[in-house]
Amino acid sequence: MAAERIYTLFSFLDSYIGNHFGVEQRYMGEYSNLGYTDVEYHKSAHKAFVLDFRQFRVDLETAEPSAQFIAEFFKWITNWWIMHIQRIDKGLGSFLNSVLQKHSNKHS
Ligand SMILES: [Fe+2]
Repeated sequence: MAAERIYTLFSFLDSYIGNHFGVEQRYMGEYSNLGYTDVEYHKSAHKAFVLDFRQFRVDLETAEPSAQFIAEFFKWITNWWIMHIQRIDKGLGSFLNSVLQKHSNKHS
């Protein structure tokens, strides 16, 4: 059961990487001159995630997922959720909100 979920999660992560990272990095580029200071840090975290993901995928393609692989994978994705989405992405979201609010206040 956990093994089946891994395959589902892998295809979700494939599209997540393509869509979500692309959108975030576009916003970072567009708004970096307005004071978002974590551009390089944020991009390097995405890059590290992609490299880790690729390695997990190679492992998954070469063998049936072992209990150890599944445990490591879930630990890694949980850590990503806590460290990246809950902190770094939230920080970007707050920054964009404040920029857009200032912008809309100027025009109201
Ligand atoms: Fe991100």
